[in-house]
Amino acid sequence: MQTVETFRDLQGEVTEWRRYLHENPELDFQEHNTAKFVAEKLASFGINHIETGIAETGIVALIQGEGGDGPTIGLRADMDALPIVEASNKPWSSRNPGVMHACGHDGHTAMLLGAAKYLAATRKFKGSVALIFQPAEEPEFPTGGYKMVQEGIMDRFGISQVYGMHTAPGIEIGKFAICDGPIMGSQDDFDLVVKGKGGHACAPHRTVDPVVIAAQIILGLQTLVSRQTDPTAALVISVTKLKAAQAYNVIPDQVEIGGTVRTLAPALRDFAEKEILACAQGIARGFGADVEFRYLRSVPPTVNNTEETNLSVQAALSLVGAESVDDKMRPRIGAEDFSYMLEARPGAFIFLGNGQTASVHHPAFDFDDEALPYGIGYWVNLVETVLPA
Ligand code: NI
Repeated sequence: MQTVETFRDLQGEVTEWRRYLHENPELDFQEHNTAKFVAEKLASFGINHIETGIAETGIVALIQGEGGDGPTIGLRADMDALPIVEASNKPWSSRNPGVMHACGHDGHTAMLLGAAKYLAATRKFKGSVALIFQPAEEPEFPTGGYKMVQEGIMDRFGISQVYGMHTAPGIEIGKFAICDGPIMGSQDDFDLVVKGKGGHACAPHRTVDPVVIAAQIILGLQTLVSRQTDPTAALVISVTKLKAAQAYNVIPDQVEIGGTVRTLAPALRDFAEKEILACAQGIARGFGADVEFRYLRSVPPTVNNTEETNLSVQAALSLVGAESVDDKMRPRIGAEDFSYMLEARPGAFIFLGNGQTASVHHPAFDFDDEALPYGIGYWVNLVETVLPA
């Protein structure tokens, strides 16, 4: 196993790649220039099995080890940027106005390229490594990870395990954090339309006022978590959208409510879908109104498998030592579409410290290039741990 010093030689070059990607961010499913850059780099490392155009701009490349036959493991990086006006003031700030790498996917792509260069040159492992560069991690369903799985990459490339990594502001550079089981939350959204009977605001007795009913429903939904969910489980139901009449003197026919559901437990998504409707319907009917309901399933929870989590921990430990690996981090409720790959194959997702920077999705965020050798080293040690020659 290598220490991080091994990868310092690569740091300068990978920093240039990372900053190039940062300067040239592209939104979901439009990562054409990024994909071209990635494919050219992979070819320059002597990798000859490169498939492009998967899920529009995704890439899978295979590196065969020289240690004999063995399984194929997938290492995944995401390539897309966000619709944010950059305010990092870095010399390598976005040249694409209104688009920026605010989630570190420039760093993820650069680190996987760095690992590819090292692994293609050394090949001290058995079996094969599938490098997965995915588009569109950020948007609503269907995301790039989902589409790549739908397009059959797991079977087509014979991938038996998958691993992912994400930058983590707030964790020191050179440190890793991971946990067994759920590590990130799901993201579902819902729309409710309360259908009453409108009229003049001076004569509410001639209406079925959906505004008052909507207010009761919003309060009723608060009890689904506080009164009906196991207190040790993680479930968030937030009402975030509300649309009623546009005038002071009008009671509208209907009120539109929207919100989001986040959880670490797949079963609680079914609970939320069923009970939000039951609660809203019960309240609305009690007042002579009715509801229309739409539950939009997006990203499932990201759930790490025990065996692969242990392998990830071993790989990180071998690189940075036990004091720098938190293997029992508290899960984060934000969503990550690597979950689709983990639904298809066992694997593990790990966080890589990015120091005390702005948070991801903030206009001042920038991936810290000091983290690059740690990310590259993690990928290399993971391959040599999971596929020992
Ligand atoms: Ni991200």
